[in-house]
Amino acid sequence: MDKSRLKEQVEIIRQAFGYINRYKNEIFVIKIDDTLVSSPYFPILVKDLVLLHKMGIRIVLVPGARNRINDILQTYNKKCRSVSGIRISEPDTIPFIKMAAFDVSNNLMTLLAEHDTNAVIGNWVRAKSIGVRNGIDYQSSGMVERLQTDILKNVIEDGLIPIFPNIGWNAKGKPYNLSSNELAYTIGVELKAAKLFFLTNRSGISINGFKIPEDIYVSSDKIITQLSIAQAAHFLELNSGMLPNEQLELVSLAIRACSKGIRRVHIIDGSSEGLILKEIFSNRGLGTMIYSNQHENIRPMKIPDIADVLRLMQPAIEQQILVNRTASDLEKKVNDYVVYEVDGTIHACGALHEYPDGQSEIAAIVVDEMYTNLGIGKKVISYLMEKAAKQHHKAVFVLTTQTSDWFIQLGFTPATMTDLPLSKQQDFNRKRNSRILRYQLSENKASLHSE
Ligand SMILES: CC(C)(COP(=O)(O)OP(=O)(O)OC[C@H]1O[C@@H](n2cnc3c(N)ncnc32)[C@H](O)[C@@H]1OP(=O)(O)O)[C@@H](O)C(=O)NCCC(=O)NCCS
Repeated sequence: MDKSRLKEQVEIIRQAFGYINRYKNEIFVIKIDDTLVSSPYFPILVKDLVLLHKMGIRIVLVPGARNRINDILQTYNKKCRSVSGIRISEPDTIPFIKMAAFDVSNNLMTLLAEHDTNAVIGNWVRAKSIGVRNGIDYQSSGMVERLQTDILKNVIEDGLIPIFPNIGWNAKGKPYNLSSNELAYTIGVELKAAKLFFLTNRSGISINGFKIPEDIYVSSDKIITQLSIAQAAHFLELNSGMLPNEQLELVSLAIRACSKGIRRVHIIDGSSEGLILKEIFSNRGLGTMIYSNQHENIRPMKIPDIADVLRLMQPAIEQQILVNRTASDLEKKVNDYVVYEVDGTIHACGALHEYPDGQSEIAAIVVDEMYTNLGIGKKVISYLMEKAAKQHHKAVFVLTTQTSDWFIQLGFTPATMTDLPLSKQQDFNRKRNSRILRYQLSENKASLHSE
């Protein structure tokens, strides 16, 4: 194997290990569109889900049943109409809808069993009627009222994979047909999931035919790769009345999910082999990711901040973690620096120095000792990476003497002097002999994919 290929593979393995560590014991809620069941890759997708489970990620599955319901209703000559993508479930169709929902869940459970993985299908959802909206009676179509989270947490704790058919029951045991997307959203929020996935049969949100907000990342195949909550809301506003129901529902749910604490929502193509693994374990995810705003407390540094920033840096300078900087050093590069501020007090800082060869240096990262281990350092790094990506830089690097483990935990990998921009190689302080670490920025995704 040639050396560069080997290096690339080693880098992928390192990245994956970092992510495995980070996601252990985190909950991922995964909605699986039932169109995927007929894909030749479906058994492989299930195998990948088993892999995630065996790594210690706590997965919760919500299989959609829309197509199976259509098939069964057709077989029994029953009809339901839909309004704005919501099926109006006449009471006499409910036994068939239940049959379809449990059939899809059972199939999934059987496939999991083939991989020696225990799953359980449950009735953990208390539901209520949607009722009458705009004069339309939605009959036995329902919405989630609440989940039995305590029982669910025990199920997860016992190492089982919960599977949720899209059926909920009211206090008297009356069943309702639920939207599985909405159900997945509620489960994610209630269980405080780290990620919510919508596995569909298309590659994320396409821009074709739609207006897009400025400043968003779009892949070469015209898929929106990432949107902050604000950008996602702007996207919906720009395309009001134009988006197909499914996309509108998914983007709206993603905005609500991120606003309620889920860090990332991923809309990806479940019919392409291995996409869910790539999305989770590399910094080059595919599909569309909608994320909560990690950066609301971060802003560019201004001249009056310099005294506070120098004070913040002082302990790290004294421990020789940072090189000494003067007020005039900071003033000269004021545009490179950012600060993390809460209620007028600066708790962290960092800088991004850009080089003409398409790389940027991350430097001067400090978090106030009183505020460490709260994820602030990671947010500053992710902000600086986005800044670099907006300049179309291909990589960021850092020189560090004492903090390499932290950067490696964030996905940085060891690099050599020859990876540095030429001018940086010439300025390299051999006496200080810092370690060189690098993070390759994806073409499409800028921030730390793992947050
Ligand atoms: C390193 C530093 C920026 C981290 O900031 P932070 O906001 O505390 O970091 P986060 O909250 O994002 O991450 C915390 C995690 O990193 C780990 N961590 C923190 N400092 C670390 C270090 N020096 N080495 C290895 N791991 C470290 C914590 O144990 C924690 O791990 P966990 O998530 O498994 O519990 C901060 O401790 C600091 O300012 N250090 C002094 C200055 C410095 O080293 N700057 C880098 C110069 S190159």
